[in-house]
Amino acid sequence: MSAPERVRVAIIGASGYTGGELCRLLLGHPRAEVTAVMAKRAAGQRLDEVFPHLRGLLPLAIEAFDPDAVAARADVAFAALPHGESALVVAALRARGVTTLDLSADFRLHDAAAWAAWYGGKEHPAHPAAALLADAVYGVPERHRAALRGAGLVAVPGCYPTASILAVAPLLAAGLVSPDGIIIDAKSGASGAGRTPGLATHVPEAAEGVRAYKVGGTHRHTVEIEQELAIAVGREPSAIAVTFTPHLLPMTRGILSCVYAAPTDAGRDAGVYRDALVAAYAEEPFVDVLPEGALPDTAHVRGSNRVHVQAVYDARARRVLAIAALDNLVKGASGQAVQCMNAVFGWPETLGLGAAPMFP
Ligand SMILES: NC(=O)c1ccc[n+]([C@@H]2O[C@H](COP(=O)([O-])OP(=O)(O)OC[C@H]3O[C@@H](n4cnc5c(N)ncnc54)[C@H](OP(=O)(O)O)[C@@H]3O)[C@@H](O)[C@H]2O)c1
Repeated sequence: MSAPERVRVAIIGASGYTGGELCRLLLGHPRAEVTAVMAKRAAGQRLDEVFPHLRGLLPLAIEAFDPDAVAARADVAFAALPHGESALVVAALRARGVTTLDLSADFRLHDAAAWAAWYGGKEHPAHPAAALLADAVYGVPERHRAALRGAGLVAVPGCYPTASILAVAPLLAAGLVSPDGIIIDAKSGASGAGRTPGLATHVPEAAEGVRAYKVGGTHRHTVEIEQELAIAVGREPSAIAVTFTPHLLPMTRGILSCVYAAPTDAGRDAGVYRDALVAAYAEEPFVDVLPEGALPDTAHVRGSNRVHVQAVYDARARRVLAIAALDNLVKGASGQAVQCMNAVFGWPETLGLGAAPMFP
């Protein structure tokens, strides 16, 4: 595929948090122009009524989803929709030849039966577009760059999986830690739950406490993480079982993922684990292995596509700890989607993603 000079972009789900973040990021992209913004309940409103922070920047009206209108006015579409709904929208776009980046979980799992087990429900007991699963490329550019080039459908990973995979996959791939008995203790800000209000993220109920949720292997990201970690060690996804415990923290953005794994050889020098991350990410523009002794903090990546990682060996407990911090709405969703679009077209992956983190 020869790289196009510029593309026209449609955002479906533009009134949600990841859709709004796509609008913000693409405003700074030198080769992309947002030509259509679509949603469901918000259709008919101006984008800046729904997102006042975009006032004066993207003067578009939100429309109801229409695949023919997208195909006529855009080369690329980002689907930032709830799972289940997204599969149908993506199928309509792919049928019209639109390059599509899906931020939902609908095309992340390679196996339709796994999707049905983890995501199937009353409305969609089976995958609504299973025939497309084989075409979807799992969009972590740091791991699947070659497959992304020229892809028609990209499954943009979840926020917890991105952080967890980037922290530990290089250690697994290098044979330094065992794929058995991995524990992932992760924390997220409330924007990870999307824009629809709910009691769990209501300020009086969430602002002063920290809680675990969906424990005991019930969070849907568990299977996505297992699938990718299995690929890193050449196993079947069902041959890996991680303990994944997510927590909700009283902050707006951010994911911190702490991954605990057993070393394959307890006698190695403590520095080899960090060295393996340095080797894996030496050429990566967004993944920063922190200096020895420094630890990732969500406050240091907020608003950017950057990921801070670190690996430490606890010789007393014979455990390796790999940690990653990222912004769930940027490298955990919309920024990674833009990075994937750049990889699809063979453009520098940093296009549109050069912003430094906001601090404090
Ligand atoms: N939030 C995160 O940190 C994060 C990270 C990674 C991945 N994701 C995934 O990304 C997707 C979007 O997440 P979000 O947090 O942005 O959700 P959100 O804030 O709840 O937004 C959902 C969007 O989907 C639109 N929508 C729903 N059904 C539609 C339909 N049939 N046709 C057109 N538009 C429709 C909604 O429009 P109206 O409200 O106007 O109806 C809204 O714009 C989800 O699958 C989520 O799991 C989210």
